Amino acid sequence: MVALRLWMPWLKVALHVRNSVGPGGSPDENGETTIDALIMDGLTMEVGAVAAMRYVTDGIKAAKLVMRHTEHTLLVGEKASEFAISMGLPGPTNLSSPESMETWTKWKDGRCQPNFRKNVSPANSCGPYSPTHYLQHPGETCSSIGHILTSNSGLPRVGLHSHDTISMAVIDRMGHIAVGTSTNGATFKIPGRVGDGPIVGSSAYAVEEVGACCATGDGDIMMRFLPCYQVVESMRLGMDPKLAANDAIARIAKKFPDFLGAVVALNKKGEHAGACHGWTFKYSVRSPAMKDVEVFTVLP
Ligand code: GLY
Repeated sequence: MVALRLWMPWLKVALHVRNSVGPGGSPDENGETTIDALIMDGLTMEVGAVAAMRYVTDGIKAAKLVMRHTEHTLLVGEKASEFAISMGLPGPTNLSSPESMETWTKWKDGRCQPNFRKNVSPANSCGPYSPTHYLQHPGETCSSIGHILTSNSGLPRVGLHSHDTISMAVIDRMGHIAVGTSTNGATFKIPGRVGDGPIVGSSAYAVEEVGACCATGDGDIMMRFLPCYQVVESMRLGMDPKLAANDAIARIAKKFPDFLGAVVALNKKGEHAGACHGWTFKYSVRSPAMKDVEVFTVLP
């Protein structure tokens, strides 16, 4: 991720899942790779984001162009690509790679399982899909027959290797804080799906006088809770980073005990801590005083 300004970073905290984000990451149901990205300046509260962006390789640069050169916060889809290319980024570029096409072909050959569909027919093979009737709430009475509730494959929707995210928080020598996130989203997602990556307060959040937060995991669940907004506001109210991170994760786990996710909290003093659910994750920290990056492992 590029720094927001030409600031000399005093502290960088980075959370990453899988090796990279960009071309060849997380193909969707059609085999296409897209990018979600967000950048936020904790001093000015300016935000730029792109979602489901096609044909452009650098999500963070595109998000930064939105922040720097528009009054908007979020651009989506092909229009985000057009904007990024019109503002000087390379493209249109095919974001698929031989590896992503191989992954996608294997998934198609496996009857498109697992996938993100529910209450659809066919339940266990590739589409086209049509909706099935379902009971909205357990115990709800229904006068007509034939209502069913299906969870289709029953396989985990998001596993350790089914999404990719890089999220980073930076504090400079002046104490200015910025965050950024970049992701290809969830593997075999329904085309058009946008996760937590470009959602401010979900994948990342920064407030100059308090601190910052980075997050990753099952974005479809996490974006409902704005965990990074929660973390920063908890620190504002006096929680230390560990308590704030644990609290944000616990709120999600209470409603979705099977979700996979992680957050890293960083306060303005540079104190940091992570919390996670459903997996063990690592984040890295670097400051000019350190000889090398230090990697922290967080247990669920
Ligand atoms: N956390 C990445 C995603 O779910 O899109």
